[in-house]
Amino acid sequence: MIVSVLNTKGGVGKTTIAVNLAIAQALAGRNVWLIDGDRQATAQQAIAQRIEAGQQPALAVSHYAEGPMLRAQVQQQAGHFDDVVIDAGGRDSTALRAALMLSDVVVIPFQPRSFDVWGVGDMAEIAKEALSMRDGLKLFAVLNGADASGKDNTEAAEAVAELSPLVYLPTAIGRRKGIAEAAGSGLSVLEVLGQAKAKAEIAALVAAVFSKQ
Ligand SMILES: Nc1ncnc2c1ncn2[C@@H]1O[C@H](COP(=O)(O)OP(=O)(O)OP(=O)(O)O)[C@@H](O)[C@H]1O
Ligand SMILES: [Mg+2]
Repeated sequence: MIVSVLNTKGGVGKTTIAVNLAIAQALAGRNVWLIDGDRQATAQQAIAQRIEAGQQPALAVSHYAEGPMLRAQVQQQAGHFDDVVIDAGGRDSTALRAALMLSDVVVIPFQPRSFDVWGVGDMAEIAKEALSMRDGLKLFAVLNGADASGKDNTEAAEAVAELSPLVYLPTAIGRRKGIAEAAGSGLSVLEVLGQAKAKAEIAALVAAVFSKQ
């Protein structure tokens, strides 16, 4: 399955979620290829740390910041893997457009703030274009960095739930230091001690993303 984590808005947690999805599938015994489609190559750097630390399971990682190269390589090599996870940068780029056209599922993280909700509106428009060219693409908006309390989560979720053709997934991820620290070392939060709530959130997201083919 090919899953992309995309949003034209920066800093919403794309790389964090992509690293967690890819490692979760590798932990489940799948042969996973993580593709970093961002010039900044943060996902690749995280996996480089993982490899240096000798952390198992290993996963393949590549960096293609340009859409044509990303598309050609995925078309050429995706068949060698059970799952491909693509992380694109936080802007409308050729890599983001290529990832949209290659994916079975697109995960769109957003944070519970107005600017983020508007950013998801931008993604809904881009998704409409993609859907006009291909059927069967699933587009899931996921709240990331959810607040521990207050009304902002619900308000943002309600606004995003209106944004057809995106589907709002109720598997929100909280703002959790453990998730950020693990991803920064090339680990999923599933691999660190404690962090029960974070683990449950990531596991629920993984189940929702990879079960809906
Ligand atoms: N659920 C979370 N809880 C706590 N911190 C988080 C969470 N998700 C992301 N972060 C932190 O927020 C920052 C941005 O996350 P990340 O780099 O994954 O976003 P991004 O969308 O990939 O950004 P960019 O657009 O720059 O590629 C990072 O410092 C990361 O550690
Ligand atoms: Mg990123």
